[in-house]
Amino acid sequence: MSATIQSGLDRWLNDGVPGADCIVEDTADAMTIADAHLDASALALADESSSRLVLPYTPFPRQQEFHRSPAKYRLFGGAAGPGKSKALLMEAILQAHEHAGANSLLMRRTFPELEASLLLYFRRDVPRELYRAFNDTKHVVSWWNGSTTRFGYSRSENDIYQYQGAEYLFIGVDELTLFTLKQWQFLTSRNRCPVPGAYANMAAASNPGNIGHAWVKSLWIDKQAAPGMERPAEYDPEDYAFIPARVWDNPIYATDANYLKTLHALPEHLRRAFLDGDWDVFAGQYFSNFDPARHVERAERIGFADWWPRWISMDWGFEHPAAVYWHSQDKTRTVTYREFVRQHMSPRNLAHEIVERSRGERISNVYLSPDAFARRTDETSIAEQIGDVLAANGLPRPVPADNDRVGGWLLMYQMLDAGEWMITENCAELIRTLPSLVRDSARVEDIEKMDGDDAADAARYGLKSRMRLQTGANAPFDQRIAARVTSSDPTIRAIQARKAELDEQRRSGPISFARHHPRPGTPLR
Ligand SMILES: Nc1ncnc2c1ncn2[C@@H]1O[C@H](COP(=O)(O)OP(=O)(O)OP(=O)(O)O)[C@@H](O)[C@H]1O
Ligand SMILES: [Mg+2]
Repeated sequence: MSATIQSGLDRWLNDGVPGADCIVEDTADAMTIADAHLDASALALADESSSRLVLPYTPFPRQQEFHRSPAKYRLFGGAAGPGKSKALLMEAILQAHEHAGANSLLMRRTFPELEASLLLYFRRDVPRELYRAFNDTKHVVSWWNGSTTRFGYSRSENDIYQYQGAEYLFIGVDELTLFTLKQWQFLTSRNRCPVPGAYANMAAASNPGNIGHAWVKSLWIDKQAAPGMERPAEYDPEDYAFIPARVWDNPIYATDANYLKTLHALPEHLRRAFLDGDWDVFAGQYFSNFDPARHVERAERIGFADWWPRWISMDWGFEHPAAVYWHSQDKTRTVTYREFVRQHMSPRNLAHEIVERSRGERISNVYLSPDAFARRTDETSIAEQIGDVLAANGLPRPVPADNDRVGGWLLMYQMLDAGEWMITENCAELIRTLPSLVRDSARVEDIEKMDGDDAADAARYGLKSRMRLQTGANAPFDQRIAARVTSSDPTIRAIQARKAELDEQRRSGPISFARHHPRPGTPLR
């Protein structure tokens, strides 16, 4: 028989079992819930020998450690596969049974993610007789003791405010690094419970990486206030506990050679993050200034005007996904407003998809990854095949994109810094990719190539090629001036130089891209 689990109880009650009407404990092979409030119909379905409903969950040792932690804010995991999501779900269920009439909330960033993890486990692993009802539209479970557990998500930054007005004894956030600090902070304000004796608390599960990497690492790993916290002096490290767990802590996967092989085969930095749970691996995060709260906006709030120029950039791929972005620009900002990312699509089909999505828009340029001009799938190059379809539908043929990687990344960084690049929230792949890009350790000005960077490459083509078009600039300024000073007569040389300078200034006049911003800052710890 394994140790008794009284989830939460021994975290805040010295005498173990509170005066509440339910207890939670585990038996030799399963955790059970006994609840004096259960009505006859529920009891009839219960385990006959014990008159107890059986929750088929025997936590693994690391999961037990997580359930037992007394911290107000717990973070579980830090690597792939140890049973983080399942432990979060079970924690919510256990707490719902410790206090009758208490609400709990389980969050993921998007609904598809919620469906594929927490909701899937709820439907699969929680016997129907354990709860009174499940509202499939609102995703709320009503337990027999009057408690509820809600499954929620917050796709956009501000969707989190739909939880305003509610109060939850327990809030569990799965894949916390997909959330922003603001979203987490807002949820902490909903974490309270009027039930006497109840101790409001939160827990999260996550792997390293992604947009929330820096603040999550600060709070739980480095144990210090996170950058962007409004009242850093109020940060109390005692409130935060990190319970590390890795794939070997889950007996199901620990011996699954196939899954372990997949994890081992990941690119170096992802392998270190997901297999080893190494939080330092994203130390070289390139776009450390990317902040969805500042750089991501709903498309309808941009206020596009007909006269804004629009252009498309594309990174061709077949085995790797092809990524396509649509951009537009007003006087001060460039807006990347649509994305299309798809694998295993022929050049012509890809072009048809682009045509379909560009209807009614005046597209001035299409920039395509330079390799598409060299590679062929039949007698014509990929660029020609795409171009034929685009041209037949009134769109420009693609031209080779500017593939200056170092200059392109730097431009993107600077534009983010100056607030001159916005991304609309429907560009989910790009928003997910930017924070995961890290510096190339051998060439620190560049970003390390990795699987899944196609979205960033395609966006870079769009910004950098546009910049080149506007400045007409491939060669440095001095070189371009020098090239136009051809006379041997000193007076004429001076006139030629002056004229060239004036032309350059005129041409680069309307450019609003920041050029004097600092280089990407100090890497994250
Ligand atoms: N205590 C347990 N008993 C039996 N099966 C479990 C237990 N904990 C987790 N599992 C199973 O192990 C698998 C992985 O669990 P889970 O999805 O919770 O892991 P995770 O750490 O969230 O993984 P990921 O890193 O992919 O998000 C699931 O099939 C889950 O049902
Ligand atoms: Mg999970």
